[in-house]
Amino acid sequence: MLGVSVLLSTLFSLIVGLVSSEKAVICYYGTWATYRHSYGQYDVENINPYLCTHLIYTFAGIDNTGKIISLDPYLDLSDGRDNFKKFNALKNKNPNLKTLLAVGGWNEGSAKYSKMAASTSRRKNFIDSSLNMITSYGFDGLDLDWEYPNRRDTVYGTADIDNFTTLLREIREAFDKKELLLTAAVSSVREAASQSYNVTAISQYLDIIHIMTYDMHGSWDPVTGHNSPLYKGEGDEGAVKEDLYTIDQALAYWIGAGCPPEKIAVGVPFYGRTFTLSDANVNGVRAAATGAGIAGPYTATNGFLGYNEFCNLLQTESWTQRYDQLAKVPYAFKDYDWVTYDDANSIALKVDYAKSLGIDKIMIWSIETDDFHGLCGDGNNPLLNAINLALDSSFTTNRPSSTSSPDATTSNSDSSAAETSSSSSLPIPSPASSVTPATICQGRLYAPKAGDCSSFYICVIKADGSYEPKEVKCSKGLHWDQTILACNYPSEVKCSA
Ligand SMILES: *[C@@H]1O[C@H](CO)[C@@H](O)[C@H](O)[C@H]1NC(C)=O
Ligand SMILES: *[C@@H]1O[C@H](CO)[C@@H](O)[C@H](O)[C@H]1NC(C)=O
Repeated sequence: MLGVSVLLSTLFSLIVGLVSSEKAVICYYGTWATYRHSYGQYDVENINPYLCTHLIYTFAGIDNTGKIISLDPYLDLSDGRDNFKKFNALKNKNPNLKTLLAVGGWNEGSAKYSKMAASTSRRKNFIDSSLNMITSYGFDGLDLDWEYPNRRDTVYGTADIDNFTTLLREIREAFDKKELLLTAAVSSVREAASQSYNVTAISQYLDIIHIMTYDMHGSWDPVTGHNSPLYKGEGDEGAVKEDLYTIDQALAYWIGAGCPPEKIAVGVPFYGRTFTLSDANVNGVRAAATGAGIAGPYTATNGFLGYNEFCNLLQTESWTQRYDQLAKVPYAFKDYDWVTYDDANSIALKVDYAKSLGIDKIMIWSIETDDFHGLCGDGNNPLLNAINLALDSSFTTNRPSSTSSPDATTSNSDSSAAETSSSSSLPIPSPASSVTPATICQGRLYAPKAGDCSSFYICVIKADGSYEPKEVKCSKGLHWDQTILACNYPSEVKCSA
């Protein structure tokens, strides 16, 4: 009897360990926030190194020979503010922290990367110089943000897709010798991602894949829309589900295309986007808009608002706040101004949704627009705390209090213990089922499990084109809903198991 229960608990911890050991809060830091004024200024000293498992420094660039370069030597290097070094010194406070250097980003464009990836010698320049920069400043790895292969100002078009795979394979070979991390930020929805990536191929070489599940709507659209909707929302009734820009569709695409859920980090925005309405009285989702709306006092960009900027406006001005019950995100309007944004609640729902798919990594763009001074009354870093709490409450409670300043905290020795402990709310993939895959998946990305309302299958496409069903359990108390392809309240679901 004892033997059986020991065996069972060993099996259980093995299975739980598979999903819970890789939990991650991956924080991008937009380093130029150092130059913002007053309460918007965010330097390395403002980073709380206990609220992220991974911190990413943005951005390095490349030159015309493919060599990696600092884009702001004054900020990054020792002749100036020395932020490369200060950033990596955060690991002295939290030894479990991993740091990555991001190369690329929107402003770097695609052309230089298209040329670099297409040439054996430029790829070598890139890999050698990256290895050198990373190891000499103490980063734990590289995050590749080529925006995007085969899009924008690409030079080689569709050849970028395979050349990107080749580049990743070669970086992986060089990095494995030094045990460095390799990650990438990728576009999210099918329409974009399917132009840029061979998903099964790149997934082999990347440790973590940062899916940028935001910027789905913004002032470039003729109508209002959400920056980062979880599901299809108000005004989407007639649309074909697969065509919609939503987090659930983006994740369905990536998982269905063969990216293992355990490698996925779901992107969460700490900013909103603003529109100007055509008619102040037509102010819902998908209302006509004439272009970008208000800018924030610190980020000073029309069409964009940091959470730290908007939480303050919501308190000092007369905004009407609404919540899209379908898309699970808030929005707000005032006269001709319309804002889509995320708050602690909508972010927690995103984390829960990720967990329901067996995804335990959340990526954030970007930490310098959280309410890091706690000026809106919910403590310092309310959004980052919401993520830690939703991912695993023991994660946060084992860390030094988030309301104390990072400098006042000294140790984080408990956090590795917290990460390996089991969490009852995480979905637990079961061992392979004896039912043949073809019967379960039938070409679907998600399939219900006969006889078990609280479980479902994610059908992952393997490199050979076959489907492998991965059984996943919904969070406690929820049932799988095949109509919305998500775990849902039992009262909403027709299930007769
Ligand atoms: C880039 O991709 C194209 C198309 O797949 C291929 O012909 C070319 O050889 C690649 N370049 C390198 C250096 O691998
Ligand atoms: C994706 O890459 C794999 C190799 O990893 C290859 O077998 C497959 O043909 C590629 N798919 C496409 C559509 O090019």
